[in-house]
Amino acid sequence: MTAKLWGGNYETAPDRAFWEFGASFPFDRRLLGEEIAASRAYALALGECGAIPHADARRLDEGLALVLERAKTVPGYLDELDVEDVHSFVETRLGEIVGELAGQGHLARSRNEQTVTALRMFVRAACDRAAAALSGLVEALCDKGEEGAEAVMPGFTHVRAAEPITFGFWASALAWGFARDRQRFQDARRRANVLPLGSGALAGTPLPLDRARLAAELGFEAVSPNALDAVSDRDFAAEFAFACAQAQTRLSRLSEELIWHSGPEYGFYRLPDAYTTGSSLMPQKKNPDALELLRGKAARVQAAVQRLLVMQKGLPAGYQKDLQEDKEAVFDAADALLGSLPVATGVVAGLVLDRDTMRRAASREELYAASLAVVLAREGLPFRQAHHVVGELVVAAQALKRPLRDIARERLRAQHPAVAARIDTIFDPAEAVRAKATEGGTAPETVRASLSAARASVRR
Ligand code: ARG
Repeated sequence: MTAKLWGGNYETAPDRAFWEFGASFPFDRRLLGEEIAASRAYALALGECGAIPHADARRLDEGLALVLERAKTVPGYLDELDVEDVHSFVETRLGEIVGELAGQGHLARSRNEQTVTALRMFVRAACDRAAAALSGLVEALCDKGEEGAEAVMPGFTHVRAAEPITFGFWASALAWGFARDRQRFQDARRRANVLPLGSGALAGTPLPLDRARLAAELGFEAVSPNALDAVSDRDFAAEFAFACAQAQTRLSRLSEELIWHSGPEYGFYRLPDAYTTGSSLMPQKKNPDALELLRGKAARVQAAVQRLLVMQKGLPAGYQKDLQEDKEAVFDAADALLGSLPVATGVVAGLVLDRDTMRRAASREELYAASLAVVLAREGLPFRQAHHVVGELVVAAQALKRPLRDIARERLRAQHPAVAARIDTIFDPAEAVRAKATEGGTAPETVRASLSAARASVRR
């Protein structure tokens, strides 16, 4: 049976292919809980403002609660009706319970405000879930970072080993990034958490609804200040998708690095077996599928931002059916990110650090060239000159195939005896990271402070 909320002015039924093409119930049924919560609050507000009798408002409210109950318990309840969208579904099912009164719940109300109210509620909840999951990931990075606070490894620029850092420092860098991603969801939540209900189709409502009370009832922090804006606006959805996309993109970068650095060519750490898969042919393989999928899903989430922006482009003010395309993009971004975060957290928590391999990779002497130049400069040589001198030492060491530290000790002895005497300290990995103790640096104590600050930031 086809159930519509309109049709008085029609003599024919909609074309079948168009009906199926236009129906959003296959996907907006996900908003059933939000739609019913908003409809219940609206019914009670209708009673409060005297638009309908209190007793009717109560019957509507109870009927709506029953619809939700049945949706959860009665098999096939959602699939039996051929309805256009979640709003039509609720009103039709409500009609089975309260009869004609069901239509009164729609008094002066438009699906244009309903759909965006439900979506805002969904986005708000998704922001909370994303923020909580990001806190978990930040905590896991901080735990691992503390475990590897002293573990020296190479830091890279241009995918070439550049200077020694600690594993903890690397983990802290990621932790701060994900902490910002979490804040982004908190910010996005604030702008999403504005109530459109009471906007009517586009021009507001003639009923003396207490919108502030309605907002409070539904957990909204504010009411929309312009009805036309309220039904037209999807910037909250695009902003949410961007918050998802930025976090997923960071997951993608993290994954890329974990894939390389856990592989046999680097071997800085091992991935937990629980997040790898074997090969159907090659018995030796443990493939980083989980990480590859985290990386791959960034495409999907980035696309959601694009979908939402392009969807809005060129739309005049007011509701247009194009806007129905908002929901799947939002769901897709949310599902991808919320599915990814626990996996990423599990991988990070299960990393098995190989300190010896990290330290060996960080012992390549070129990694200490910059430190040597700075020491020379602090002994009085102008920095550009010091840089040049060390560059020549590097070339000499490579040409003679001898350790840089030996060449440096020999050639600096005459003019810079104090530096020559300290060469072993300058080239010592642990000493080198300890030297960078200014706030934000890689020294273990500095990193420990930074990790605990990151941790504190996600507990607020
Ligand atoms: N299913 C629609 C959507 O998701 C609800 C709003 C429909 N409004 C309308 N005037 N056709 O956007």
